[in-house]
Amino acid sequence: MMKLALFGGNPIVRNHTRLRIDWPPVGDDDWRAIKRVFDNKDFSGRGSREIIKLEELFSNRFNGMYATALNSGTAALHAALIALDIQPGDEVLIPSLTFVATATAVLYALAVPVFVDIDPIDYNISIKDLERKISNKTKAVIVVHLHGTPAKMDEILKICKKHNLKLVEDVAQAPGATYKGKAVGTFGDVSTFSLMSQKNLATCGECGILLTKTLEQKNKAERLRIYGEIINKNKPRIYSSYSLGWNYTLNPMQAAMVITQLNKFDQLTHEIQVRGRELTAKLKKYKWLQPPLEELGTTSVFHFYRIKFNPNFYPYKKIGRFRKAIQDILNAEGLNMRHYQNIPVSGQIIFSEKRAFGKGLPWVLNKRHINYDIKQYPNTLDVIRSTLVLGAISSSPGYLLCKGTIDKYIRGFEKIEKNMPEVIAYADRLDYKDPWETIPVTSDSFKAVYGIL
Ligand SMILES: Cc1ncc(COP(=O)(O)O)c(C=O)c1O
Repeated sequence: MMKLALFGGNPIVRNHTRLRIDWPPVGDDDWRAIKRVFDNKDFSGRGSREIIKLEELFSNRFNGMYATALNSGTAALHAALIALDIQPGDEVLIPSLTFVATATAVLYALAVPVFVDIDPIDYNISIKDLERKISNKTKAVIVVHLHGTPAKMDEILKICKKHNLKLVEDVAQAPGATYKGKAVGTFGDVSTFSLMSQKNLATCGECGILLTKTLEQKNKAERLRIYGEIINKNKPRIYSSYSLGWNYTLNPMQAAMVITQLNKFDQLTHEIQVRGRELTAKLKKYKWLQPPLEELGTTSVFHFYRIKFNPNFYPYKKIGRFRKAIQDILNAEGLNMRHYQNIPVSGQIIFSEKRAFGKGLPWVLNKRHINYDIKQYPNTLDVIRSTLVLGAISSSPGYLLCKGTIDKYIRGFEKIEKNMPEVIAYADRLDYKDPWETIPVTSDSFKAVYGIL
């Protein structure tokens, strides 16, 4: 019963796909919403009633902030920086553990991302390192509420005020989370959401929302969304571009599905939180791991359920080896755990080799030497070395909401606890490298055969 599958025992799960529900949960109302778009032939996205409705709903939900719907969270981040007048060569501070889009959006604005180490407990931007990284070129901070856990907003707002910095909240992973009773996304000058199909609030494909505090900022975002043009309500289109714009128009079908998903969102968030907290309560007995923390006065939405492993209790000091052993063992039990980000973002080649637009752009516009050496982010390295997120693919709510999944994972952890000497012996004989040392190096990707995520 308790013999580990990696060493010849029976695995707890034979079919990993049964551990998660399809994401997002869809119903007849979603189908009807898509059909409505077809029936109305509301295909263009420019002046679409679905998109206007979606913007209204977001505005109502987030304190009356101005909402602009775009076709991805990345586009929303780009629009955020344009709305805030971030200029070429300006520095924007961002956490060193996030999805790459937080950083590439800064490059889109020809601005320079400066990475800040993370807090070892909540995995969000480190308050201490944030102040240290401010220079006379810093114009804005992007905070990411990583994995649905709110960042320390009081401290961040204080620093932004003291140094006259604009604040962007990247809420891609955290819609529904609260800090001191207030929704994340309402603290910053602007905030951005991704509603792509794996997010807690998800549509059938891609979608992003930008929230701004002024109409002027919304106007700038709208111009960016449509080729730099100004399109006045009820007036003919002039076909004249006033500023650089992209085509970031949202598909009305995707807007329509967010509208139906919003009707269910609070209940779904509640269920995710109940299950996330249930898992946390059940994991408390294991002295060699740390489940995600919901600090007093905050609520998380568990977009990724990240567990930190620490075998000091045994005592065993090689944390990376221990984490890898747990990963191999649970994966052999059919209970996948994986990395989400295996290097501080600054270590990705686009930054470490300052590739971006080529010819040194945008860094040449800044003139300061920006160092992207990953060793500057010791907390991020420690977290990547010692943690794993729940599940094989997608985000964690699909796992948390699947009946029986939590208990199967707990059986896996129990097996590890019962076999700890064997687990540690296995960790010791592993051929181990830290995750950032095992990223394959390729000179180009043109011969690659792309897979499906
Ligand atoms: C923290 C964060 N920021 C930005 C994005 C980008 O959003 P999108 O994929 O909708 O462009 C994502 C997710 O994909 C994310 O997790």
